[in-house]
Amino acid sequence: MKYNLSNIKKAKIILDKHDCVAIPTETVYGLAANAYSDKAVKKIFKLKRRPVYNPLIVHYFNLKDLKRDCLINKDFLKLFKKFGPGPITYVLKLKKNSKISQIVTNKKNTLAVRFPKHTISRKLLKLLDYPLAAPSANISTKVSSVNYQNVKEDFGKKLKFILNGGRSSIGVESTIISLVNKPILLRLGGIEPSKIKKTLNKNINLKLNKSNISSPGQMKLHYSPGLPIRLNINIPKKNEAYLLVKKNKKFKKNVYHLSKNGNLKEAAKNLYIILRKIKKDRFKSIAVEKIKDIGIGKTINDRLLRASKFNG
Ligand code: TXA
Ligand code: MG
Repeated sequence: MKYNLSNIKKAKIILDKHDCVAIPTETVYGLAANAYSDKAVKKIFKLKRRPVYNPLIVHYFNLKDLKRDCLINKDFLKLFKKFGPGPITYVLKLKKNSKISQIVTNKKNTLAVRFPKHTISRKLLKLLDYPLAAPSANISTKVSSVNYQNVKEDFGKKLKFILNGGRSSIGVESTIISLVNKPILLRLGGIEPSKIKKTLNKNINLKLNKSNISSPGQMKLHYSPGLPIRLNINIPKKNEAYLLVKKNKKFKKNVYHLSKNGNLKEAAKNLYIILRKIKKDRFKSIAVEKIKDIGIGKTINDRLLRASKFNG
């Protein structure tokens, strides 16, 4: 990826002044600020309208930097070796003398950490003397941003600078795994749980709000384009947008394809862009065809299920 060093330096100047900058990552764009600064981190919560009890992910350049703040263990090292920088977030124990702002963790003694792979975010992290706290760059409960324009739409002039790194290549957030004790999968994402399981060579427990799935009314709304969404639909209503995984000659009107030929990776990459497009095209509701619950299709289904909790 081509990049412009002067833009990266501009981002550094703003971040050094305890302000926020949106940064590109291969999963989704992040709303970043100095994770060691209370003042900087408070701005993230305010801009995103994020509840203070929801802790942030902190982004590091390398292992050496991480070790200043967190305790690492064997499971972590196995996964880090295999997946390196990439779409995976690890929850680790915080060191007692870590400089991470307590606002990042809501005073917890664990920290979610990630090493983004995107060239521009890595160049930026390398220049800084501190790691970056960065939730997804979108308004709380809404659809994440996967390009410059998405971030601009959500934050407008309230955000001083967006570092443009093109379109996020994965398009959905990182997989989150807690390694504080036994491995627990907390969020489906860019890396398949089966690959994590194989690398660790042990079982991983799941804690994906399962109890809420059996009582969907209680599941928290998230990843929402701000429209009602109906899932597993074979025949859409007349004025509904119909979201398909691949082209289907039977449906021509009001149809959106996540991928031409049903490629699930491509579908994940297009998911948030297309949900935003449907909203812009002024549809009042969305019907989604059944999507295969395999590979990254599981992540797509997870996001759509949470988005379907919208009720006006
Ligand atoms: O791909 C990603 O992970 C993107 C990019 C920007 O890195 N970030 C992202 O952040 O998705 P956010 O804030 O939208 O989602 C982070 C999730 C939240 O659901 C939060 O509750 C959880 O991580 N989290 C953060 N710290 C945690 C902790 N110490 N223990 C358990 N969960 C944690
Ligand atoms: Mg988010």
